[in-house]
Amino acid sequence: MKDCELKKLLSEMTIEEKLLQLTQMPSAYIVQDGGEVTGPAWDFGLTNNDVSRLGTILNARQEDKINQVHDDFNMKNGSKVPMAIIADVTHGFKTGYPVHLGLSCSFDGELVKDCTAMAAKESAIVGVSMTCSTMLDLVRDARWGRVVESFGEDPYLGEVMAKASVEGFQGDFGKYNVAACPKHFVGYGASIAGRDYNTVDMNEYTLRNFYLPPFKSAVDAGAELLMPAFNLLDGQPMIVNKKLMVDILRDEWGFDGVTVSDYNAFPEAITHGVCEDEKAVALNALKCKVDIEMSTPIYFNNLKELLAEGKVTIEDIDESVLRILRLKNKLGLFENPRYSQSKKEQDEIFLCPEHRALALKAAEESAVLLKNDGVLPIFKDIKTIALIGPHSKTNNIIGPWGAECLPEDAISVMQGVKNLYNGKILQEDGCAWDLDAVDESGIKKAVKIAKRADTVILCLGEAPTDSGEGTSKLNIDLPEIQYKLFNEVYKANKNLIVVLFTGRPLAIKRLADKAPAILNIWWPGTEGGNAVARLLFGEKSPCGKLSMTFPVTVGQCPIYYNHENTGRPRSDDTKRIPFSSSYIDGPNKPLYPFGYGLSYTNFEYSKIELSQDKFTTGENILASVTVKNTGKYTAKEVVQLYIKDEFGSIARPVRELKGFEKIELKPNEEKTVSFVIDEKMLAYYGVERKFCAEKGKFVAYIGGDSTTDNGTKFELV
Ligand code: GLC
Repeated sequence: MKDCELKKLLSEMTIEEKLLQLTQMPSAYIVQDGGEVTGPAWDFGLTNNDVSRLGTILNARQEDKINQVHDDFNMKNGSKVPMAIIADVTHGFKTGYPVHLGLSCSFDGELVKDCTAMAAKESAIVGVSMTCSTMLDLVRDARWGRVVESFGEDPYLGEVMAKASVEGFQGDFGKYNVAACPKHFVGYGASIAGRDYNTVDMNEYTLRNFYLPPFKSAVDAGAELLMPAFNLLDGQPMIVNKKLMVDILRDEWGFDGVTVSDYNAFPEAITHGVCEDEKAVALNALKCKVDIEMSTPIYFNNLKELLAEGKVTIEDIDESVLRILRLKNKLGLFENPRYSQSKKEQDEIFLCPEHRALALKAAEESAVLLKNDGVLPIFKDIKTIALIGPHSKTNNIIGPWGAECLPEDAISVMQGVKNLYNGKILQEDGCAWDLDAVDESGIKKAVKIAKRADTVILCLGEAPTDSGEGTSKLNIDLPEIQYKLFNEVYKANKNLIVVLFTGRPLAIKRLADKAPAILNIWWPGTEGGNAVARLLFGEKSPCGKLSMTFPVTVGQCPIYYNHENTGRPRSDDTKRIPFSSSYIDGPNKPLYPFGYGLSYTNFEYSKIELSQDKFTTGENILASVTVKNTGKYTAKEVVQLYIKDEFGSIARPVRELKGFEKIELKPNEEKTVSFVIDEKMLAYYGVERKFCAEKGKFVAYIGGDSTTDNGTKFELV
């Protein structure tokens, strides 16, 4: 439809119809009992007729018969505006790929784009047209359960992944695309003490230089939706935070998409103690241009009165409704509301070979080899393998919050090993993966098969329910019973590889000190078992690089590589330095740093070549290194560029990722990798309160992780 037609449609809508466009109900709330609304929506006082005019329905599932939601509640009742289905598609819809904290370790934007495009296609063919993804919260505290959904601790990596995921989901707004919804705007990952929904307290510099950039990248990439977060920022819940929702998002960035609140966030503005009552929430949220209210009818129940009182204008309401109509129009919903689902199309597309192949590739590229004393790769000519651990046989390894992904469609580690290895496979769980698991009876059987095996593959880690929303932890080590299992099995057979399943960095120092090898597979998705097997047997070398720091102990959290130097830095952990920024009972350094990940081969980096060591406005510098594969395996390497700003109007991080390139080298092959360093790359938000570069001295580092000392100085004059 043309925009003028949308405006005409808007002018013909009743106030109730307009307010229902601003209202979103979970499909579970609209339990349909013979055509009558009987679920919680009914308790909200929404009639059948109201429900038929809701603007969006959340997470209508296949078993909810999505088209019935449409048919029984929408066009059949003569609604003029198609109802849209919005769904949480966090790491795949039917074909699961790795959780985003894992996927970001691929350092591959194209891969992220392909994965989100796949998820868009699989969700679009069941009627979904908008997704509550991608989560762009920058994270530094592994106690927070939602790090699993994030792209890690670095703003630059976050910007790359934000753009890739928005482009993947939205494509050209075709029938296999969905509108992307960057979330949770903003700062949610900095919840104090890693406790979900807790207060966020940060200064403008941190906000601008670290937490906002991924969202800005998503908005610049054309994201059509955005979800404000639950948390307070500057003392205000995000849905009533005018500075962020209007001044920055709408006015400074020019975002003209649709904002949708998080679940129950409206009444929580009262719980936060910032809005006195529902009318105050409705008034302030509308003033902050929150267009859609998720899961509650506060707009629906209060805006008419506020209108009558002259506290809001019909223009305020029309502005939000028009944004929603425009989005539905852009998605082609007026022509194709995506009601009809084709079973044939679903059977062709769901879990098709191409999708499985992509999921496999994503799982392989996301895996991070944390340690390898030489036991990897496993050679296939060995006689017997013992597969041990709670994650070794189960196919429930897709990971938390996997939309319609089903474990029965997933490949377990055992199945993956069987697909590649013809020798004898022995298997014992040994123990359960629950945090409170205490039954040690399985350990004896595990030890028995370990003794009979040439090699042990020990699959350990979190339970899938240990990560995600509302799963903050005080202890981020493995459960004690898994250490008991490890110690007993390791005593029985030193030829042991740990495969780690986790949704967060774990403080696994005790494991790292003893295990001969650790492959972190995160939550790998539907093809997880095949990826584990292919990596362990060396079909492919691991190449993932950590997007989030692994702490030695939870006491170090929040811990991240791009920190400021402080006035009393302590870089040497080997001895106590009194009155330094350090701990008396442990190190500053992490267990594994940002950007770290081993390979089956080795890469040698030359010194950095600079085209010149000084440059001024309008010029740039070319920084180049030659990387050589000095080992025996073909493998990929993520060549990383970090820059240190020696002095700034505010203290600058000890280094910041400013570029990366993923290359593949055969044994003895070498490649020159170059990065263009320009003024834009050096810009940051300083005391001038605008993004700009400051003249001065810098150091460029180029290497295989954030600790590289392969550096050279240059100057912006
Ligand atoms: C949840 C989450 C959000 C999700 C929404 C809809 O509470 O915070 O990420 O998209 O509700 O399920």
